[in-house]
Amino acid sequence: MYGDIFEEEMNRETVFRDASKLMPEYVPQVLVHREEEFRQLTRFFKPVLENRSSQRVLITGSVGVGKTVLARRFGAELEKAAGSRGMNLTYLHINCRKDRTIYSVIAKILQHFNPRWPYYGLGPEKLLNDVVNYLNSRDAYLTVTLDELDFFVQQNGPNLVYSLTRTAEERGGPNRISLIAIARDKSFLRSLDAATQSTFMHNVIALDRYSASQLKDILLSRIREAFKHGVVEEDTVDLIADIASRWGDARFALELLWRAGMAADAEAAGVVTPEHARKAKAEVYPEIKREVLRDLQLHEKLTLLAVARKLNLSKRAYAFTGDVEKTYRVVCEEYREEPRRHTQFWEYLQRLNALGVVDIKPSGLGQRGQTLKISIQEVPAEWLEKEMEKLLREK
Ligand SMILES: Nc1ncnc2c1ncn2[C@@H]1O[C@H](COP(=O)(O)OP(=O)(O)OP(=O)(O)O)[C@@H](O)[C@H]1O
Ligand SMILES: [Mg+2]
Repeated sequence: MYGDIFEEEMNRETVFRDASKLMPEYVPQVLVHREEEFRQLTRFFKPVLENRSSQRVLITGSVGVGKTVLARRFGAELEKAAGSRGMNLTYLHINCRKDRTIYSVIAKILQHFNPRWPYYGLGPEKLLNDVVNYLNSRDAYLTVTLDELDFFVQQNGPNLVYSLTRTAEERGGPNRISLIAIARDKSFLRSLDAATQSTFMHNVIALDRYSASQLKDILLSRIREAFKHGVVEEDTVDLIADIASRWGDARFALELLWRAGMAADAEAAGVVTPEHARKAKAEVYPEIKREVLRDLQLHEKLTLLAVARKLNLSKRAYAFTGDVEKTYRVVCEEYREEPRRHTQFWEYLQRLNALGVVDIKPSGLGQRGQTLKISIQEVPAEWLEKEMEKLLREK
């Protein structure tokens, strides 16, 4: 019987040619409406290729305006252009929301060059020295993108940027490490030292939100890659572009498109209609990024599930930390995980708060503000509960 189900699902009529082309990680060959910004970035990096100097650039813009994809696309071209000029340059893209400590960012750089590099138990300074030695010994260059750096600096302070910009300089010789920082806006620069601040300040590429017609072009170019020919109705594209233009967010537009395709497949409709887009809209919330939920660590996921479940069950606006912690223990049991201690649970909550997934404030109850009240403001608790269960099942 299950064999039949398998075959049936495999043979099911689908509107997709390749749905993976709609996933947030996919880097399209062509970036629509970002030629000027790409050119600007190239101009900033010209001296790196011509004079073998180093560069620092900051890319800013709100959610889903193409910061990550611009940097990745640029990095690929930069490597190519350097190679054809006989320059050994590596581009590395690091997401600082995922690699959350200075140590793990630098270890990532080292490991890129040699996965077997012995780095356990060594401090970040030592590791960074190793990177510089490595680059020197091979006459090699490195451009690192520190993506979602604002979030990282808020949590860890300015040391990472400081070390990456200074280590080589302090040792004399050429600085072989260039940086592309990505952040929502420039405000995080204030917590960096004056010298670093000013280099970034002079090299800012600010990406605007996309208009409806720009979003339509982005959608159309992705539809050609991801869908079978002619299955997405033009009205559907217009509607999705309109909906997403309120935020100017291409990620939201592409997610709507993907879910609309899924809705069409669920009905074996063969075409993606505006009604499928409307259905999709009912289950996507641009306020919370899917990747943010997906990239949470296991116990952060369990904690978030506990918050969502508590709020969904109680139907109240707020949940108290003590109650959520009890729910967390139940959730852990359900997923056969050993619950972590109170202090760690506390840290998970703080991190969820920092990511903007939950909102925490003092309850006014208990001693010295020990009790906090937690709310979920951006999405229905019921929706979040289901999402978290889905993600935890995938593990
Ligand atoms: N100009 C574009 N052409 C084609 N696809 C694009 C373009 N801009 C964005 N996208 C796509 O939209 C999605 C979101 O883009 P991206 O991840 O680069 O946004 P972001 O600015 O980094 O957002 P965040 O601040 O949330 O990290 C990705 O799937 C990306 O491929
Ligand atoms: Mg990004």
